[in-house]
Amino acid sequence: MKRIFTIALMLGWVVALHAAKPTMDQFVDDLMSRMTLQEKIGQLNLQVAGDITTGSAQDTEVVGLVAAGKLGGVFNLKGVDKIKMLQEAAVKRSRLGIPLLVGMDVIHGYETIFPIPLAQSCTWDTTLVREAAHIAAREATADGINWVYSPMVDIALDARWGRIAEGGGEDPFLGSLMGAAMIRGYQGDYSGTDNVMACVKHYALYGAVEAGRDYNTVDMSRLRMYNQYFPPYKAAVEAGVGSVMSSFNIVDGVPATANDWLLNDVLRRQWQFDGFVVTDYGSIGEMTNHGLGDVLHNSAMALAAGTDMDMCTTGFLNQLETALAQGLVTEQQIDVACRRVLEAKWKLGLFDNPYKYCDARRRARDIYTDSNRRAARAMAAQSMVLLKNAGGTLPLQRTGKIALIGPLANDRANVAGTWCVAYTPERYSTLLEAMQRAVKGKATVTYAQGCNLTADEALQRAAEFGKTIPRGDDATMRREALEVASQTDVIVCAMGECADMSGESSSRATLELPDVQMSLLKELCALGKPVVLLNFSGRPTVLAWEQEHVDAIVNVWFGGSEAADAMCDILFGDVNPSGRLTVTMPQCVGQVPIYYNHLNTGRPVATGDSVYHKYASNYLEVRNDPLYPFGYGLSYTTFAYGEPVMSAPTMALNGSVDVRVRVTNTGACRGVETVQLYLRDPVALISRPVKELKGFRRVELAPGESREVTFTITPELLQYYDGNGVPHLEPGRIDVMVGPNSRDLHSTHFDVMQ
Ligand code: BGC
Repeated sequence: MKRIFTIALMLGWVVALHAAKPTMDQFVDDLMSRMTLQEKIGQLNLQVAGDITTGSAQDTEVVGLVAAGKLGGVFNLKGVDKIKMLQEAAVKRSRLGIPLLVGMDVIHGYETIFPIPLAQSCTWDTTLVREAAHIAAREATADGINWVYSPMVDIALDARWGRIAEGGGEDPFLGSLMGAAMIRGYQGDYSGTDNVMACVKHYALYGAVEAGRDYNTVDMSRLRMYNQYFPPYKAAVEAGVGSVMSSFNIVDGVPATANDWLLNDVLRRQWQFDGFVVTDYGSIGEMTNHGLGDVLHNSAMALAAGTDMDMCTTGFLNQLETALAQGLVTEQQIDVACRRVLEAKWKLGLFDNPYKYCDARRRARDIYTDSNRRAARAMAAQSMVLLKNAGGTLPLQRTGKIALIGPLANDRANVAGTWCVAYTPERYSTLLEAMQRAVKGKATVTYAQGCNLTADEALQRAAEFGKTIPRGDDATMRREALEVASQTDVIVCAMGECADMSGESSSRATLELPDVQMSLLKELCALGKPVVLLNFSGRPTVLAWEQEHVDAIVNVWFGGSEAADAMCDILFGDVNPSGRLTVTMPQCVGQVPIYYNHLNTGRPVATGDSVYHKYASNYLEVRNDPLYPFGYGLSYTTFAYGEPVMSAPTMALNGSVDVRVRVTNTGACRGVETVQLYLRDPVALISRPVKELKGFRRVELAPGESREVTFTITPELLQYYDGNGVPHLEPGRIDVMVGPNSRDLHSTHFDVMQ
């Protein structure tokens, strides 16, 4: 009897608990049954709220929209107080009290800024990348944000495109791993107050804009989409990304935002994405310029194609009721989109506690902390790529006199890189400050700016870049720099692009060092002293002259808030460089787009061939090889590779095979080597790349130490897609290549058997 009573009691609890905590479906069903059509449409509207200020905010337009239930979310608003005030307006003043999504472009950190994503990928370290995203999420949530517009996983092969800075480079395999790591770092399982929802972007093909000009047209075969451009988006879905942002460009003639094939067929049916799709900024409005029609038609088309939330056009808010009345959309389509947005809010726990991310006490505890800064500094040092080091110029000794020259040497606003909405540059160090700390009084550092960022003041003003870098007379500055440099033992040049010369709307038609910087560098080299170039860049730049004449080159990218200290860590050898390029660096801009995993063509020219061949696929003035290949990067030590050995000569179609290689540190100091595996399928039903990265391993070795590295090759690594997204793998030979970069490889092979 007692037992029956206990069981009944337990059942009662279960029922009671169940009643207290409905499932997501039950909750959303119930909520939607109480929503009017206008309230449902309101959830699909997303707007910027950057102009909100506490105090007068009660009267602003955004608060009015929130209270009227006409906003599903806001973005790029900084400050937990302002965000809490808006959230209160949603919860207390709107009829159903539905909380807001609060988004931000947290691209590579919040106030602690990590290296730009392109540089992050050069660490080849997914654990570090995941941790950086988690720290960014912790800082952002401490300030009220619950949704971040990252990662950008657009494959980019064209260095002219400024947004190459925001992605993981040119390779689909590495890019997939980087994007997935970021998503896991941001989202966790949504249970913590330090988890945000990620938004993978820009789906799809945004990185393939013609001529590298931002917002330009894209045209591509489906074969290429599935094999080269889609994998990182697919990997993001597999990593559980909560939202997807559609891209500005057309895909197969139809803007991505209204592309039924892209959103409904590929994203939702083939890849089983179950989150929501938001447009990019004003994308629905831009469909008119693409030639698709008016905003009524375009809003209807976007909704029907599977777009759920409209960023900044207000097409959904203002047109969907009319579209419904005219039969252009169905009520069910509005319901589906509304449900997806509400589900996102449910996943984030906002219905349980709308103020989950509004704890003002967290700022002091979680933002720009010493440990966050240490992580950013370590990652920045690991992302920098040593491109040349003639005669062991680096690391520098902490003795004698060092000249520090260049427009980027004494500026704190540019070190972090493009697009840091929440950054606080007044707290970041300049390279000059960091270097003075780093020499610990044992060497002297003398500084001169040397030149302007570019000679063209009008361009600089129009593009609004490098505003914080003082402008002066180039001839006078150059004289001063040469004077300073001639009295020192070594010259360190901090030159290159400023932060805003990459990123959105910053396409370039040339890739060399800007004019006046180049001529100053030439004069400094003519002094005959050792010259080190720290190349600041948000993209692969052209360093052909520098490779011939400068003693040492470090591509420092933009390393984030702690970049200045990290550069010194590399310069003085406190950290041994281990960054490896994830983009090919061209010899000249005419080679662009240039990438290592290209197809062979019918008239190929062998890598390293030094002469022009008539009727072969090459240029008259320059050879096909890049200046620095994908995967390339030096260390202060050296490594030697043994020959790769297969565990078996064959692999079954559903089996696997291992390849082993021995790597030895042959130099004088401890270092990290990134061992890279490339595969080639030389005979297939379609033309396949000359090689594709399919594995990598970072190994740390003491001088003289050697380690065997094993990669397991599975059918998933070998298969390719047809134009319908169906994977294929046929029996036959597979070439296996292992080495330190995509050029200097040791090969073997095996056969896939039926
Ligand atoms: C960019 C997106 C960004 C959005 C919101 C757009 O211009 O393309 O990457 O997330 O603005 O700021």
